Amino acid sequence: MKIRQTTFALAAIAGASLLAACGGSDNSAPEADAAAPAAEEVVLDNGMTPKEQIELRQGQLKKMGKAFKTISDQLKASEPDMAAIQAAAASVPVESEGMADWFPAGTGPDSGVKTDALPAIWEQPDLFTEKLSDFQMAAGGLATAAETGDMAAIGAAFATTGGTCKSCHETFREDD
Ligand code: HEC
Repeated sequence: MKIRQTTFALAAIAGASLLAACGGSDNSAPEADAAAPAAEEVVLDNGMTPKEQIELRQGQLKKMGKAFKTISDQLKASEPDMAAIQAAAASVPVESEGMADWFPAGTGPDSGVKTDALPAIWEQPDLFTEKLSDFQMAAGGLATAAETGDMAAIGAAFATTGGTCKSCHETFREDD
């Protein structure tokens, strides 16, 4: 469980984790630093600071990325590890549960926290929701396909799901 006081301790190491979360996508650090104090004071309706919310979603997205890498690697392997594929495919709907709540107002780039989320998320909420539900549908299909153990079905569902990740990133994530 999260303890509210940790917010302030975490803020102290913001500089370090900023670097880690950045993943080498760009070098906009000076802007982030200038706006950082405001980010520490703001509390969202859900009780989290923008930094906590953004790091939470980035952590979940990273797990989804890892699961996707596992499946991709196994699909290319000469002897695919079906159990690994099934576990990874089953994890995506779990890790992405509640994704619609990961992007509350105030967690965009103007929060002062390092994020690749583009303002378009809040400017075109209907389109964002549409892409999100396309993804959730596809991810459910991938998990179901994995359960069957049918490699052709898994490959097709993986491609469809990957397409929905890409489609959202193209419009709503920086660097795509
Ligand atoms: C509805 C939109 C949407 C969908 C669908 C989506 N993403 Fe993303 N993804 C984003 C946004 C926005 C960010 C940037 C988040 C941030 O930096 O705050 C992101 C960031 C990421 C990151 C980087 C996380 C980090 O900070 O290190 C990974 C990895 C990722 N997504 C993987 C995936 C995978 C894999 C899928 C599909 C299985 C997927 N995403 C589906 C919107 C989406």
